[in-house]
Amino acid sequence: MTAPVRLLQCTVNGRATAVAVAPHRTLLEVLRYQLDLIGSKQGCDKGDCGACTVQVDGVPKLACLTLAVAVEGREVTTVEGLGERAGGCHPLQDAFDRHDAAQCGFCTPGILMAADALLRRVQRPVTPDEVRAALAGNLCRCTGYTKIIDAVVDASRRLSQP
Ligand code: FES
Ligand code: FES
Repeated sequence: MTAPVRLLQCTVNGRATAVAVAPHRTLLEVLRYQLDLIGSKQGCDKGDCGACTVQVDGVPKLACLTLAVAVEGREVTTVEGLGERAGGCHPLQDAFDRHDAAQCGFCTPGILMAADALLRRVQRPVTPDEVRAALAGNLCRCTGYTKIIDAVVDASRRLSQP
């Protein structure tokens, strides 16, 4: 017997959203396949790679391990909302561009969301070690991480300038 569909009401990228979801669907599935927000990537789909990282009430969450019904009434931000929130290109996105911090780009949305959560929590220039700790759950198989860390530190310096 199929479990009954539920109406999920939450905020997604600043917009009130109501969507019918099966109770076993993950947040990642609902974002990508029902709301067409395909920025969050479906990598391992089991909590290992961080490519699906979004923010729920500003806190990084693995969307592949979060049931969609668990975000009832909460605020979800995906990488699509990051630029919108900044009115175009977010300073992190700009820094990733300037530092060549993306190659294939598959990991980039998740890394941006984890990095943004760090910069919102620590409103001063962050250290490379703080960035490494914040991004510990995000795997990148292309860049070797150095440019990513440089980009996040650079963005944090620019964001904390008066
Ligand atoms: Fe969620 Fe890999 S897709 S952690
Ligand atoms: Fe390819 Fe990170 S840029 S996985």
